[in-house]
Amino acid sequence: MSNVTPLSAAIRARSRDAHSSSEGADFMSSLLKGERTRDDYISLVAQHYFIYRALEGAAGRMRRDPVASRFISDKLTRLPALEADLAFLIGDDWRDRIAPLPATARYVARIEQVGATWAGGFVAHHYTRYLGDLSGGIHIGKVIRRQFGFETNGIGFYLFGDIADPAAFKDVYRDELDAAPWDDAEKERVIDEVLLAYRFNTEVFEELAAELDARTA
Ligand code: HEM
Repeated sequence: MSNVTPLSAAIRARSRDAHSSSEGADFMSSLLKGERTRDDYISLVAQHYFIYRALEGAAGRMRRDPVASRFISDKLTRLPALEADLAFLIGDDWRDRIAPLPATARYVARIEQVGATWAGGFVAHHYTRYLGDLSGGIHIGKVIRRQFGFETNGIGFYLFGDIADPAAFKDVYRDELDAAPWDDAEKERVIDEVLLAYRFNTEVFEELAAELDARTA
């Protein structure tokens, strides 16, 4: 990597293929084509719950880190919305009725590991989820809302009520990435961790598709 390439641009360039794999995973593409059921969508929300519980638990600890804390914002927090979505979609006993897939459990374990020990790794996971949510996620939320006839209940996860201008928010976030005081070796490690985060997301989609297709076979 060239010393002059800003980190945000390097991450985006180096993760393009990984992004395509996540975006194109069968579960995601079939969901967006309207080929998945409401229950399939609920399974995705449940996996998000475990992922964000880990990510936002780590954020709670990383608030004390001088670099990681620059990326953490209450405006991003998704866990309360996911809890409300699951209560709406499943009922009050939702906690007893969901479980992490093996890929989700591996993803969560990695977030917890780096979230306890490594600011750059935490930022890599934070970036991959939240900048995705503020990009494709906005579009995905609209498609799901239309498809299942939701107003706000059930898709609260996709609604960032405290972020009026997602593009501007992402620009500030990328400026923080570019200003992070990491040497080239650390930047490489952060980029590798972003690629790992994408891989976990793709694996979650693959396992969701396999599990749901087995259920309906
Ligand atoms: C069908 C699903 C998806 C669609 C349609 C989609 C679409 C997009 C689009 C259009 C952008 C560019 C936005 C911009 O330049 O401001 C983007 C960026 C991004 N997406 Fe996705 N995406 C999808 C899935 C995912 C997934 C599963 C992840 C990872 C969990 C992800 C992570 C990201 C990230 C991190 C960015 C920001 C890249 C950057 O500017 O640094 N996306 N997505």
